[in-house]
Amino acid sequence: MKEKKTTMTKQVYIKTFGCQMNERDSEIMEQMLAQSGYIPVGEPTNADLVILNTCSIRAKAEQKVFSLLGSLRKQKKQQPDLRIAVAGCVAQQEGEQIFRRMPHVDIVVGTQQLYQLPEMLGRLERQETAREISCDLEKEFIIPPFQKLLQDRPPQSAEFRKFVTIMQGCNNYCSYCVVPTTRGREISRPVADILEEVRLQVNRGIKEITLLGQNVNSYGCTNAVAEKPTGFAYLLKMVAAIPGVQRLRFTTSNPQDLSTELMQCFQELPNLCPHFHLPVQAGSNAVLKRMNRKYTRELYQEKVAELRSYRPDIALCTDVIVGFPGETEEDFAQTMELLETVRFHGSFSFKYSDRPHTRSADFSDKVEEQVKGERLQRFQSRQDAISLERNQEFLGKTVEVMIESCSSADPSEPFQMKGRTGSNHIVHLRSSTQLLPGDLVLVTLTHAGQHSLKGVLKGVLP
Ligand code: 5AD
Ligand code: SF4
Repeated sequence: MKEKKTTMTKQVYIKTFGCQMNERDSEIMEQMLAQSGYIPVGEPTNADLVILNTCSIRAKAEQKVFSLLGSLRKQKKQQPDLRIAVAGCVAQQEGEQIFRRMPHVDIVVGTQQLYQLPEMLGRLERQETAREISCDLEKEFIIPPFQKLLQDRPPQSAEFRKFVTIMQGCNNYCSYCVVPTTRGREISRPVADILEEVRLQVNRGIKEITLLGQNVNSYGCTNAVAEKPTGFAYLLKMVAAIPGVQRLRFTTSNPQDLSTELMQCFQELPNLCPHFHLPVQAGSNAVLKRMNRKYTRELYQEKVAELRSYRPDIALCTDVIVGFPGETEEDFAQTMELLETVRFHGSFSFKYSDRPHTRSADFSDKVEEQVKGERLQRFQSRQDAISLERNQEFLGKTVEVMIESCSSADPSEPFQMKGRTGSNHIVHLRSSTQLLPGDLVLVTLTHAGQHSLKGVLKGVLP
């Protein structure tokens, strides 16, 4: 006989698209729903509730969401009391339209209304409403109501790192970017709340913290946060000083707001990891101008040189868009030139894609799809070669690695482990003793591939 689920053990499947901000939001939803009796499951089959936490950064990301929604239609036919919720950036951007296109969706919840989800579900369950939507963009920081939830949760053994959201939204209005529409205006979270969340996490056994915001460098600039001074460098120092924060990272930075004080943190704070994600987007000043990026290639290169003067071993990554409207072969050659001068350790590169309510969507001189594809390919193959050369620079060095996973297929064989360097490189290694996620070890690097390194265990750090 098929086991009948009690009302107390409902199952939720959450699929997360897009950035780390979304990953953190999914975690928050999971925690909230746990309090209403939902347990998370790894696939949609048999779930009572499916949540798609969506991304709209490029057209492709949005298409993925709609195609998954299309396939959920069949599941809902067979399982009529399945509830389907769309959260995140596509929900924020499309609102009511989602019901029109996908009538089997029950809930649309915007990026800043996550905390309403349990109430919305409650109204549906009590059949007070047939559908629920909430998509307002807030004028205050939305996270504080969630903070209490953390205290109730014991740490799980594999948990060793956490994201902590420090701000929401963005005020930069890069001409290609949908984020000001999907995440709203920039609002910083109070310093005291952030520090409290980090302390809570460390007390639960978390060892690595990543501070999250669309534009962390302008933290504290746009609204009064309770403490002065309030800049990002100040916040970073406060977080770094919390005992138990073994590793600290942050993302994402805009080069225009990158201060000397922040760069010096890489010299001053031993637990701040030597890794920096600094999106450049393009190497041509003309393109940067049309993108409404408020720096030049020269300024970007100066910032990189300054950063490296404080922390010579810092690994630098970037984002690049190829085929922005009006990008000529000459413009693109300048992006390639920048790649050669900076020699990024890694990069994320994308073909330009029109997004709703962005200025560049109305630019007339669009680059042909085929040209975009060809430029992307040229960029990526050069980047791959540079990444490999950069990785080879690590050979013979002994570095700190934080273990992420440890497994053994056969008890007589050594444990296979995967970990990460401070510079954010994946390292594979073996050990005859079992190590736990979050353990810090010393590893001498012996092999460099394009996307990862291999090494030999030299010791376990206390
Ligand atoms: N088209 C292509 N790539 C984009 N990105 C943002 N908007 C677009 C767009 N319209 C890229 C940028 C950004 C990264 C997260 O996604 O490089 O840094
Ligand atoms: Fe995607 Fe940007 Fe939304 Fe993150 S904030 S989910 S990258 S659109």
